[in-house]
Amino acid sequence: MKTLANILIFDSGVGGLSVFQKIQNQLPMLNYVYLFDNEAYPYGELKPEILISRVTTLVCSIVKRLNIDMVVIACNTASTIVLPALRDILTVPVVGVVPAIKPAASISQKAIGLIATPATVERQYTHDLIKQYSSSIPVRLLGTTRLVTMAEEKLRGKAVDIEELKGVLGPLIDQIDVAVLGCTHFPLLHNEIQTVFGSDVTLVDSGLAIAKRVEDLLQLNNIGFQKKQKPYAIYSSATPWEGVALNNGLQQFGFSPVQTFRLQDA
Ligand code: DGL
Repeated sequence: MKTLANILIFDSGVGGLSVFQKIQNQLPMLNYVYLFDNEAYPYGELKPEILISRVTTLVCSIVKRLNIDMVVIACNTASTIVLPALRDILTVPVVGVVPAIKPAASISQKAIGLIATPATVERQYTHDLIKQYSSSIPVRLLGTTRLVTMAEEKLRGKAVDIEELKGVLGPLIDQIDVAVLGCTHFPLLHNEIQTVFGSDVTLVDSGLAIAKRVEDLLQLNNIGFQKKQKPYAIYSSATPWEGVALNNGLQQFGFSPVQTFRLQDA
């Protein structure tokens, strides 16, 4: 059995940190590596074939280079189309995240709001999930990149404008009793979104389910762990690097300053 598991968390930006937090809470004794493809951000507006090619190239090459034991694609937009290709290439376990329609349907009495990226709300995968798990509860779709950017800005220290948030979420206000945060960026705005919808609306996301899945897979694959290495390493695909505001935000999550991992070097 290995003594220290290296877990890769991948997203287009800082959204995967919401998943990282849940996993790290549950499994603090692992070593985490975070890679974000901000050169191609936002993923919610990218052509599927470009997205598949970027994610497979970047992830497969960092897995090899850093001896990664398990991959978490902490991005709904990517997970809804890229998981089969990744699992074909990689021998390590790959965990994905998809919108939490199933748990939402089990608690909703009225209507569900699915808030995700423009790409995720259009994906066949998402529509199949809705058909499978929420046939009797209506699901209202809201695709937005602005909310993704607001989460990015918050991590860089910018205050969230609640009035603007009200405008973005407007089509769902007073229409739903459960909101699915179907993009990993959105739990970073959990409190602000709750303020806009009010306490009668339950917010659900997939973070905890992913953490449990990672724990199960570690056991199943006999991957052990012994001690944590902190700060964790974090890599960005973009150059030149944008500066200190983001590093300060990332430091609060336990990461050292961002290093680069470019697609052309992958
Ligand atoms: N965090 C991502 C998701 O879960 C994608 C955000 C974006 O780059 O559009 O879908």
